[in-house]
Amino acid sequence: METDTVRQAYTSVAELYISLFGTSQQVHPDDLAFIERHLTGRTGPVLDLGCGPGHITGHLRALGVDATGIDLVPDFLAHARAAHPNVDFQLGSLERLDVPDESIDGILAWYSLIHLPPQELDGVLKEFRRVLAPAGRLVLGIFSADEVGAFDHKVVTAYRWPVDEFSERLTHAGFQEVERLPRPSDDQHRPHAAIAAIVV
Ligand SMILES: C[S@@+](CC[C@H](N)C(=O)[O-])C[C@H]1O[C@@H](n2cnc3c(N)ncnc32)[C@H](O)[C@@H]1O
Repeated sequence: METDTVRQAYTSVAELYISLFGTSQQVHPDDLAFIERHLTGRTGPVLDLGCGPGHITGHLRALGVDATGIDLVPDFLAHARAAHPNVDFQLGSLERLDVPDESIDGILAWYSLIHLPPQELDGVLKEFRRVLAPAGRLVLGIFSADEVGAFDHKVVTAYRWPVDEFSERLTHAGFQEVERLPRPSDDQHRPHAAIAAIVV
């Protein structure tokens, strides 16, 4: 999907998105613990790619992580900068990162790969692998399903994956999964999963 389409879609709901999801208290505690487990205590820079309102970037920074947020949507970045003035937020796309090879210690892509058409995933994972240092860590949130396919996400078309198949894509790109947190659907949520992987 064109990044312009994604940018426009999130811009049109930015205020609502921020009110519904824009603080770390609104993140499921198990998810927050998963993210903290894998991305705190790292010495080098961590990129929160597709950071949205910047609440997780700010949370990581408060825990001592050298975290930077990157997103396509100026309205999210304006909010993020106001809410977390001690954090660097940059306008950009996770598909082309303006950082040198092997210069990043961790990447968080928390539900920000969901709008990528499946055929574009390998290229993005290759870019993540390029910038991550040896032993760097990648943490992702995805929607899960029995088959790869598009669904009618509330903001703009998104894709869901069998978690095993997504993990195989990670392996193919030079990562090894180290932890998975699957969660079944409930009244309010589709099935989804968190995955942590290391560079191999
Ligand atoms: C479902 S929201 C998740 C936002 C945030 N990570 C959170 O947990 O609330 C998806 C985010 O990914 C961003 N995004 C989608 N595609 C992107 C891309 N190619 N480059 C940068 N950001 C992207 C969107 O602008 C949006 O902020």
